[in-house]
Amino acid sequence: MLIELKAVNKYYQNGAQNFQVLRDINLAIDRGEFLSIMGPSGAGKTSLINLIGFIDRQYEGEYLFNGTSYQKASDNTLARIRNRSVGFVFQNFKLIGNNTILENVELPLLYGGMTKRAAKPIVEQALTRVGLPNSSQKIPSELSGGQQQRVAIARALVHQPKFIIADEPTGALDTKTSAEIMQIFRDLNRNEGTTIVLVTHDPQVSLYGDRLIKILDGAITADEPVVGVQHALR
Ligand SMILES: Nc1ncnc2c1ncn2[C@@H]1O[C@H](COP(=O)(O)OP(=O)(O)OP(=O)(O)O)[C@@H](O)[C@H]1O
Ligand SMILES: [Mg+2]
Repeated sequence: MLIELKAVNKYYQNGAQNFQVLRDINLAIDRGEFLSIMGPSGAGKTSLINLIGFIDRQYEGEYLFNGTSYQKASDNTLARIRNRSVGFVFQNFKLIGNNTILENVELPLLYGGMTKRAAKPIVEQALTRVGLPNSSQKIPSELSGGQQQRVAIARALVHQPKFIIADEPTGALDTKTSAEIMQIFRDLNRNEGTTIVLVTHDPQVSLYGDRLIKILDGAITADEPVVGVQHALR
């Protein structure tokens, strides 16, 4: 198993208030899975994936990644495993506006200690992979929303992450552009075996996954394979 959560509970402390955001989460994700997560706003989706993506380790219970718990690891170790293992894609792209596309996409590689010179061909390859060759000298504002999301996916890919976490990656995109972005994720999953954990509010988008999890008030209420209509998309 790549990811295994066992009896995970999480609480947010707001002054005297103790709010339980995750309730007895039991979840196993295998290598190569494409998992969609749906649930109403405030259900705890982002809290869950922050934990899976090593952004947060304030939880009770057990999270094993490749069989190892990092709950008590140092901040440095956690940052290293995050940089090496996870690619993040967000709704609002989170590109650095004053930087070129090249500078945005090379960032995780430079953090990892690579030289700009060594990073450049890897960046160009990632940009080609997401359908944006010859764009490396542009800045984000010169690109459309869909193109900016492609850049964000390229940035998530340069490290060949074990898994990609995408939190509402199509939330700011129109239907046609959403479909194009989802096809990139689907191809990555099918052709390269990249494990994908996708959060979405859009039932249509969730169908790109192989498995759908529903979350309500911090608890998993359904965990089922995606069947039926899905085949029209694949
Ligand atoms: N740092 C925090 N401190 C306190 N409460 C928080 C914190 N982050 C989130 N919450 C609360 O936890 C609950 C779940 O938040 P979370 O962001 O995980 O929901 P979500 O399912 O991702 O929602 P959305 O679909 O709107 O993104 C919400 O009620 C939120 O207000
Ligand atoms: Mg969220």
